[in-house]
Amino acid sequence: MSDRACESRRNEERNIEADLTQLPWVQAYLLLIGSVVPRPIAWVSTTGVDGVNNVAPFSFFNAFGAEPVILGFAPMASDDRPQKDTLANIKASGEFVINIATEPTLVQMDTTGKTFPPEVDEFSVAQLTPAPSLVVKPPRIAESPINFECKLFSLVPLGDGQGSATLVLGRAVHLHVADDVLRDGKIDASLLRPVARMGGPFYARPEILPFRRSDRA
Ligand SMILES: Cc1cc2nc3c(=O)[nH]c(=O)nc-3n(C[C@H](O)[C@H](O)[C@H](O)COP(=O)(O)O)c2cc1C
Repeated sequence: MSDRACESRRNEERNIEADLTQLPWVQAYLLLIGSVVPRPIAWVSTTGVDGVNNVAPFSFFNAFGAEPVILGFAPMASDDRPQKDTLANIKASGEFVINIATEPTLVQMDTTGKTFPPEVDEFSVAQLTPAPSLVVKPPRIAESPINFECKLFSLVPLGDGQGSATLVLGRAVHLHVADDVLRDGKIDASLLRPVARMGGPFYARPEILPFRRSDRA
């Protein structure tokens, strides 16, 4: 066998061929979060039936429509936590706020990703300021420059048991954008400084490429 063929076979042997229908969920999860990158981060604020506010980040997150404006994120289930506080609060109240996670608040956002009992208010733990929302009951995170006030649109169960998720789709009914992330009336990413989740424990910041979408001005 030529050196070249041998090299190619060795490379093939180093590939990952994963049967995702059979793989234990943690391994599938690790491959998933390493592959789908960078992921934007929904920093979700909710209020429990007991009136306790809750904040948590979710990187299984994106936007899905503009009329109506739909945002979605997905809390996962594990054996020790079949239902996260965020999901329980949304099921009970039908309301939440998606705050955009930014670099100046990276450490605080990361702190709110730790597990706290439902009676703990992560606004206090992470020294965040609750700002009143206009339409929904849960407060916005004042330190986040973009806040979408959302009403629950639908819940989509995605499997059951460990590793499963619930897709939470919210209709955004009101948007706040702080003037300090605006340039000429438009949201400027260099002022917004959003952060994203990568694989493993890593975060990223976006870099604008010199190439522009060719069908847009
Ligand atoms: C940057 C970041 C992104 C996260 N993304 C998700 C996610 O998409 N889905 C999920 O279930 N947990 C995610 N987590 C973990 C939750 O934030 C964590 O379980 C949190 O404790 C949930 O809080 P809650 O019980 O108050 O809802 C993420 C954590 C961090 C730090």
